[in-house]
Amino acid sequence: MRTSYSRRSFLKQSSAALAAAGTATGAARTLYAQAAGSANTLALLGGTPVRTKGFSKVWPIFDQNEEQALVQALRSRNWCCLRGNVVYDFEKNFARDMGASQCVLSNGGTTALGASLQCLGVGAGDEVITSPHTFIATINVMTNLHALPVFVDIDPDTGSIDADRIEAAITENTRAIVPVHLSGFPADIRKIMTIADKYKIPVVEDACQSVYAEVDGQKVGTFGATGCISFQEWKSLVSGEGGAILGSDKELMRRCAAFVNNGRDPDKEKSGYPFPGSNHRMTEFQAAVLTEQYKRFKEQDRIRQQNGRYVEGELAKIPGLKPRKRYSPNTRITYFYFEMDYDRNRFKGVSASDFAKAVRAEGIPISGGPRQYGGGCHREGMLEEHLRSRGFERAFSRARLDQYRASLRLPVMDGLTENKRERLSAETKIVFLGTKQDMDEIIEAFHKVARNIDTLARV
Ligand SMILES: Cc1ncc(COP(=O)(O)O)c(C=O)c1O
Repeated sequence: MRTSYSRRSFLKQSSAALAAAGTATGAARTLYAQAAGSANTLALLGGTPVRTKGFSKVWPIFDQNEEQALVQALRSRNWCCLRGNVVYDFEKNFARDMGASQCVLSNGGTTALGASLQCLGVGAGDEVITSPHTFIATINVMTNLHALPVFVDIDPDTGSIDADRIEAAITENTRAIVPVHLSGFPADIRKIMTIADKYKIPVVEDACQSVYAEVDGQKVGTFGATGCISFQEWKSLVSGEGGAILGSDKELMRRCAAFVNNGRDPDKEKSGYPFPGSNHRMTEFQAAVLTEQYKRFKEQDRIRQQNGRYVEGELAKIPGLKPRKRYSPNTRITYFYFEMDYDRNRFKGVSASDFAKAVRAEGIPISGGPRQYGGGCHREGMLEEHLRSRGFERAFSRARLDQYRASLRLPVMDGLTENKRERLSAETKIVFLGTKQDMDEIIEAFHKVARNIDTLARV
């Protein structure tokens, strides 16, 4: 090993050597194997990887149950929910499981959020407090109503909206707060609800990525006036496209049910269109798949939970790796994503990025780096497009829009604050559905890199 190499260039070269070893045949393979030495040598430095088998990438998972449900919906000739009962049955079942009085299904998480805001009366000239660290759909539903998304900076430890900064963002025009429970990790919902209650501002929880996450035994999506879930294909409970609005305020939910159905009175005995609305109905096909997926999801969620807790608990035994901060000790994260704090001082100065590279070479897909969030919806071009539109110019004074533009600087989200914290992270929605042996290999890969940290630090 040439000590004049920078660590970066060495790691690059050793990764290439590793790839070559993977494709080498015959004598070349033997040579590599000899060079590799024992299984204790880091795979990054030519040793044998802990895991050679890849992880499944198959998603969504289905079998004949989904196929039969689809065919059944097809043959029923009730393709629209107005004549079928699959959508309505799922709504009742899901509401009960989630601990909400009511659920209204829609054709997406975006439309669930939009319907919630509109039924709460959010409109032109209003302001909605939210997080910049989310998928753009959270923001689109506000701007499409000509309401200003007022971004509150994030907590550097979690990436969730910093609840301590919310109060300062409230104005007389604030009509709603939309916290986001991102990737299975609950925002500081208790604190947010306390502030919202104090100012009597309704909360719409964006729980699109976090079905079955909980705080103190209560599922996220059931704290606010409404909570919205997405069943889009990349999520953990899926129907291709689809969404749900959860809530317990009877009148609000009546409006939401009407809203997704062109404003029809949800009371089937009544006729007419007493409420505002549009067509955001879920089809019976989507609901048929969703019903079967939900049975599967409950078991998947259980396995993910068991594996996630196991891996996290074992990795936390490695000095320098710490579970991500929770806002309540009794928080159930869903392990849709997996994240741990990394303290390079406990790893001989090796960066999280280099540690992750070594773990990846052992066959475990993980990335590492500074806890920086970057990007952010407050930087998207769509915002300025809206601000310059006739609708916004009519709804807000020029002074307010200028002041708003100037406020789009968020030191934590923009990575401007000194933040030396590092983390390791991975998308584990599928990985954590693996076997105990898969989990043991993940754990062993981390331990192996930690055991060999001296070698890695010398590279
Ligand atoms: C945080 C968040 N909010 C809203 C949405 C919108 O959901 P959908 O794609 O079902 O419309 C998504 C979907 O990716 C999301 O991740």
